[in-house]
Amino acid sequence: GLVNTREMFKRAIDGGWAVPAFNFNNLEQLQAIITASSQTKSPVILQVSKGARKYANQTLLRYLAEGAVEYAKELGCNHPEIVLHLDHGDSFETCKSCVDFGFSSVMIDGSSLPYEENVALTKKVVEYAHQFDVTVEGELGVLAGVEDDVVAEESHYTRPEEVVDFAKRTGCDSLAISIGTSHGAYKFTPEQCTRDPKTGKLVPPPLAFDVLEAVEKELPGFPIVLHGSSSVPEKYVEIINANGGNMPNAIGIPEEQLRKATKSAVCKINIDSDSRLAFTAGVRETMKAHPEYFDPRQYCGKAREYMTDLYAEKIKNVLGSDNKL
Ligand code: G3H
Ligand code: 13P
Ligand code: ZN
Ligand code: NA
Repeated sequence: GLVNTREMFKRAIDGGWAVPAFNFNNLEQLQAIITASSQTKSPVILQVSKGARKYANQTLLRYLAEGAVEYAKELGCNHPEIVLHLDHGDSFETCKSCVDFGFSSVMIDGSSLPYEENVALTKKVVEYAHQFDVTVEGELGVLAGVEDDVVAEESHYTRPEEVVDFAKRTGCDSLAISIGTSHGAYKFTPEQCTRDPKTGKLVPPPLAFDVLEAVEKELPGFPIVLHGSSSVPEKYVEIINANGGNMPNAIGIPEEQLRKATKSAVCKINIDSDSRLAFTAGVRETMKAHPEYFDPRQYCGKAREYMTDLYAEKIKNVLGSDNKL
């Protein structure tokens, strides 16, 4: 069946790699995630956001995730490790309903609340979830950009001096921190970037590795999570723009920075936007090349291929979570 995150996080920290956390909203995304993680023998976290529950129905998503365990075995992965995780839970009630409903992990995102309220809410979720062996991710610090439908007015890095108190008092199993990543396909404005003198391409500002190091010093060996970690690969943006799309200045976190992060206590890296880009690239390219197509399997099939390649690339070349089952 589905598993929680405890064991895989321990292995990831000890081994200097990170578990991929991929959001899913539909069948093709799930098929691509399971195909890539099974072929590469990687543990995987399937994330469901509030928006995903609204779009796809939580009952369907839950049975898809349970079916995914069987599907992985059919693909030759004899001992799959698949987590069904609530992404950005916004209240105790939402988290409780997911725990009751068979999720193996939940996030309670109290990062926009005053500190003491975040502690109280996270603790309440942990006390409930742990009765059912469901692991809980908390968050400290505010990411720039769009978080579900809440736009953070003011982002700020995680304050390392708060993390020990937060982890102790809440009992959470992992902590999402803010070190300069953000959600979506437009993570930095051109003004925030510099230009590579040779290529003329935009170079995003580096992540705050000093904050990550300070957090690790306070909480040695404690599982750390990075949200907003899509890289916005140029190849998909180019395909989209060459086939009727319009995404100027889309920009993400360079993969090199994420690779570096996996060597630390960062043991979960969240990626959603890159999958959306791969999907859209596959659909647009197929539609443009074949105006006569009207069977969704034709263009969704291509989208699925692109996403499978993307997930496998992430696992092997960024997360380093391949051959860990
Ligand atoms: O945190 C944001 C994730 O990318 C989920 O996005 O709320 O649009 O499904 P969503
Ligand atoms: P991206 O938008 O960078 O893919 O981040 C996804 C995320 O953090 C989901 O919680
Ligand atoms: Zn997130
Ligand atoms: Na790691």
